[in-house]
Amino acid sequence: MVRAWYMANIIDDQRKEHHRDPPQYISLDELYKATGVEHFKIDHKNYDNDKTLTNLRSSRGYTYEDEIICSKQCLQNYEEKLKSFFTEHLHTDEEIRLVLDGSGYFDVRDKNDQWIRIEVKEGDLIIIPSGIYHRFTLDLNDFIKAKRYFIGEPVWLPYNRPADNMECRQDYLKRLSGGFNLTK
Ligand code: LAC
Ligand code: NI
Repeated sequence: MVRAWYMANIIDDQRKEHHRDPPQYISLDELYKATGVEHFKIDHKNYDNDKTLTNLRSSRGYTYEDEIICSKQCLQNYEEKLKSFFTEHLHTDEEIRLVLDGSGYFDVRDKNDQWIRIEVKEGDLIIIPSGIYHRFTLDLNDFIKAKRYFIGEPVWLPYNRPADNMECRQDYLKRLSGGFNLTK
């Protein structure tokens, strides 16, 4: 079961869980309604034959995929990269990640601008909508291996906050106020 929770307002080491007191968890349904973030469970050891993934790839038209590893050993400019991942930003496209090994945290803003921390581990596929403010960090285990998917030519460009006038941001806010019931 993937866990998600509202974060404490003051944090020190970004790699820690940073619960509120008392902890305030949020279910995946609530997470979707509050942010539009989607989650799927995939057989990560045999992902090429996973039905859920196969269906997602064809129904959403993922045409690009690659694999990334984030750890002190494997990433060039590790400190710098981690800092930029953890800088609040948005993208013009969805951010789609399937965790194959290790773990990490995606933090997303809800409609009241509160941070929700989503713990991802092997087998978690997460879709972060375009136009949502978010950030990513490794946890204390300092290792994640993930697949990235994309529709068309990949664009990984982050736009740091504030990016409120961007079209994808305005579209996101519309879908958010409609509770993500509108067709995509
Ligand atoms: C990304 C994550 C770090 O943009 O949000 O790849
Ligand atoms: Ni991002």
